[in-house]
Amino acid sequence: MISQDTIQQILNRIDIVEIVGSFVKLKKRGANYMGLCPFHNEKSPSFTVSGSKEIYKCFGCGKSGNTINFLMEHEKYSYVEALRWLAAKYNVEIEEKEVSPEMRARQQLADSLFIVNNFARDYFVQTLHETEEGQNVGLSYFEERGFTEETVRKFQLGYCLNLRDAFVREAQHKGYNMELLQKTGLVTIRNDQPADNYRGRVIFPIHNQSGKVLGFGARILVKSDRAPKYINSPENDIYVKSKVLYGTYFARHAIDKLDECLLVEGYTDVVSLHQAGIENVVASSGTSLTTDQLRLIKKYTRNLTILYDGDNAGVKAALRGLDMAIEEGLNVKLALIPDNEDPDSYVQKIGVEGFRQFIADNKQDFILFKLQVSLREAGNDTAKKSQLVNEIAETIARIDKVEDFTKQQDYIRQCSQLLKIDEEGMVSLVNKYIRDRLTKQANQEQNRFKNRGQEAPAQEEGPSLAEMYPEYFDENNQPEAVPENLFNKDEKQERELVKVLLRFGDKMFDEEQKTTVADYIFHLPYDFESLAESEVVKKILHEYKTQYDQGAPLDKKWFLYHQDPEISQNVALILEDKEAELSANWRDKFEIKTVYGDDAFVKDTLSATHYLILRKIRKLIEENQQELKTATDFEEIKKCLEMDIQLKQMAKELTDKVGTVIIK
Ligand code: CTP
Ligand code: MN
Repeated sequence: MISQDTIQQILNRIDIVEIVGSFVKLKKRGANYMGLCPFHNEKSPSFTVSGSKEIYKCFGCGKSGNTINFLMEHEKYSYVEALRWLAAKYNVEIEEKEVSPEMRARQQLADSLFIVNNFARDYFVQTLHETEEGQNVGLSYFEERGFTEETVRKFQLGYCLNLRDAFVREAQHKGYNMELLQKTGLVTIRNDQPADNYRGRVIFPIHNQSGKVLGFGARILVKSDRAPKYINSPENDIYVKSKVLYGTYFARHAIDKLDECLLVEGYTDVVSLHQAGIENVVASSGTSLTTDQLRLIKKYTRNLTILYDGDNAGVKAALRGLDMAIEEGLNVKLALIPDNEDPDSYVQKIGVEGFRQFIADNKQDFILFKLQVSLREAGNDTAKKSQLVNEIAETIARIDKVEDFTKQQDYIRQCSQLLKIDEEGMVSLVNKYIRDRLTKQANQEQNRFKNRGQEAPAQEEGPSLAEMYPEYFDENNQPEAVPENLFNKDEKQERELVKVLLRFGDKMFDEEQKTTVADYIFHLPYDFESLAESEVVKKILHEYKTQYDQGAPLDKKWFLYHQDPEISQNVALILEDKEAELSANWRDKFEIKTVYGDDAFVKDTLSATHYLILRKIRKLIEENQQELKTATDFEEIKKCLEMDIQLKQMAKELTDKVGTVIIK
């Protein structure tokens, strides 16, 4: 973990114009800078960067954010990777917090493996281009396959000489450690002697998203029954097969811009399609998709199109991954490449335009495809068919994101047509699966009210509470109702509290007691995090409170550049929001006489907190009155009435304090 101190140092140095400017050509326009948006294709610039607000925004595609968001979006860095990148740029030394010796050792091992791979990559590239065997065997193989020199260079393809230990001797000569060479799979021990593992093969380096070499795929050049077609790096600290897609480094910007990722099976498919000008393509390397790979794709796009050959085992494997992909919220399409072809051979055969057209014509929805395949398999078997109906309903039920509602409706319609069943029936089946899931998740603390609809019995003795506290009862001796519509800007008020904390959290609230605004707010007997209704506000308050509890500095920059984009974006909005200055609103609305001097932030603090407390009290009053309506025995009624009065007194005191009367 990077220490907060380090992060703060980095944040202090951020210059968004400089950072964004190193990726996008920017021109000054008034107070801002403009350029061509790197996130979508455009001819005239609609991408602006504001140095003073520390944000970028594209008026074309709507992407916006701060410097860290930019690096995360453009370079697909994680939050921590973006910070590391900035730290390196600004020469901020990273202070790691709580790094165990094992963690450090693993980090060092990973770094060393990258260094070894880097050396090997360069060595194989050089062998391919500069040795006779490399040229005659390796390079001519690539030529035969139609790869141009430019393509071979771009993908850093290489060749390993068909000698026992040419590579390993060079590596040892250069001082690379034997153990590491074995870990990377470049070298094996044979008859007690180190030997090159990829002898006589062409080499495909496998890059991570930022272009570092994780491992290699080495392809044999002759058909052989004895030797495997590819030898791939073994899994190690940097190469984890399930997390890697071949080609992401070369495809990332194209995927971003086209908002679609094509998935193929092989290394050569990726290379060939690239050369043809189709660059938004990655390969699963012949295994079924994993959740980690799906998430990797989701960093760039939600639209995944699988290009597999029809009766390939790969399709079946991919089908198995469908539910996972749906849950990840991906739109999965499939285009089946004709028999005996793969994308590599097919694009070379019919040309790039033909290939594009083929995808456009043959791209079908994955759910519907799966259904068609299963329907065919089920034939006339009714039991199988009804099982199928259930399976499809469950799959559709997994599309549970609100924004995907229309999509879900579409599926229901199309699937019921294919299955020849009633659409209504499908809807209720899907709903059943959604409900099943929800009930599992929900906690059952719902039934608060009992015995509804019974009249409350009359009181028996002594002066009634209505007689004792007439101001809280109406002419029918019923508890005064809660005033309506005073509290309709709930979310806004909650956001005001956040704003007060962000802006004034560390300001002195009470000079005598030496308490800050944050001290005041967090020592009230109300937990605003749980009082808040907005999930976003809850989240920010939680994060703020965590910082506060740790005694960390309460700098609004920390939240503006927060790792969680929901926090950083909302904090930016909240701090921007000028029209909702609470003190003004509050004063106008309730004509508050200010008794707190001229420190506007003190008033803001009180207003924001009182408002939410009042809202809470009002809710309690409402709940209590509900309970009163359904109460049956005298003790219960008495308790409710007393509670009603007590709550209203609290509300009155509170409103009196800020000079207005809310509860009559
Ligand atoms: N693969 C592998 N080991 C094998 C065969 C295949 O790791 N013995 C992986 C490779 O990642 C390969 C992918 O599965 O790229 C797809 O296999 P295939 O279509 O046979 O390979 P291509 O890369 O298309 O090779 P080529 O076009 O030269 O036949
Ligand atoms: Mn192939």
